[in-house]
Amino acid sequence: MKIAIGCDHGGIVLKKACIEKITELGYEYEDYGTYSEERVDYPLYAQKVSEAIISGKCDKGILLCGTGIGIGIAANKFKGIRCAHVTDAFCAKMAAEHNDANIISMGGRITSEEEAKEYIGIFFGSRFAGGRHAERVEMIKEIEKGKRLKETKENTEEMNITVVNHPLIVHKVSLMRDKNTVPKDFRELLKEISLLMAYEVTRDLPLVDVEIETPICKCTSKTLGGRSIGVVPILRAGLGMVDGVLELVPTAKIGHIGCYRDPDTHMPVEYYCKLPVDAEERTIIVVDPMLATGGSAIMAIDFIKQRGVKDIKFMCLVAAPEGVKALNKAHPDVPIYAAALDEKLNDHAYIVPGLGDAGDRLFGTK
Ligand code: RB5
Repeated sequence: MKIAIGCDHGGIVLKKACIEKITELGYEYEDYGTYSEERVDYPLYAQKVSEAIISGKCDKGILLCGTGIGIGIAANKFKGIRCAHVTDAFCAKMAAEHNDANIISMGGRITSEEEAKEYIGIFFGSRFAGGRHAERVEMIKEIEKGKRLKETKENTEEMNITVVNHPLIVHKVSLMRDKNTVPKDFRELLKEISLLMAYEVTRDLPLVDVEIETPICKCTSKTLGGRSIGVVPILRAGLGMVDGVLELVPTAKIGHIGCYRDPDTHMPVEYYCKLPVDAEERTIIVVDPMLATGGSAIMAIDFIKQRGVKDIKFMCLVAAPEGVKALNKAHPDVPIYAAALDEKLNDHAYIVPGLGDAGDRLFGTK
């Protein structure tokens, strides 16, 4: 780990003690100044340290001024910085465990050298707890993106969904939402996103030990073992997600399923289903770009389960809260992965803002 450290004249004495502690902990550091007691402006040093972290040159940071307040406020103006003003051991621990802070700020006029060293040891020795705290950090990131948080957490709290919001995916989803994106580009984008999402969906694939010999020596290493993958697109729009997954998992077998709800009887009707012969021994990833009401996903998974398949995941591009809740309720054992969780369904059961009818946009049928 490499630590960026910076201060103004109010923190210069404390900086020396902090560097001693960093060295004692065995970390590397980069000292961004100031280097004398001459009066300087703390925002500049907040900028140097924040930029070192945002650029990836350093992993975490320490900022010092008279109180630790001003330099911390300045650092928090930088996107991606979570600077915690630390004044006691408990705050040092919580800054790491609850806030995933990447900088701590302390005050040379309020914190002794011994205290600062103690807080540094605690902060860098503690790990982010994730879980509900990760959700809150995500909310901070949403604010950074200029989004307004909803008053209630109703839409996320009751839902069991993994939103794969890697910047590359978020960018590509935005391109797909644009109504001017032509079918050729729409298809390519859907394929690319499916490939990127498959990386996350397959994150828990089991590994087994293998003995191998490198050019240097024999060793035990890991390879994929256990369950194989099957991909089942829900016809027809799901077809657009198959090639992306296949690019990442070329050995996956492909099934197909088509179903609809009979308008008169309201009963689910399966009009096509062909699964790999050993489907029940595979992890089946059911794919469909849009999870709107959840109707077709629920039906498709019902039919797939009737064939004895137990290990099922559902992967879509854009989900509506209504569909997520319905699918969670009908199949609580099926994890849902989406590239975006949108606001709601409109009166015509289209996802808002969504991207329109994925099937039509994929195949140019409208
Ligand atoms: C400088 O006198 C002082 O204002 C500064 O070090 C810091 O305490 C600001 O918050």
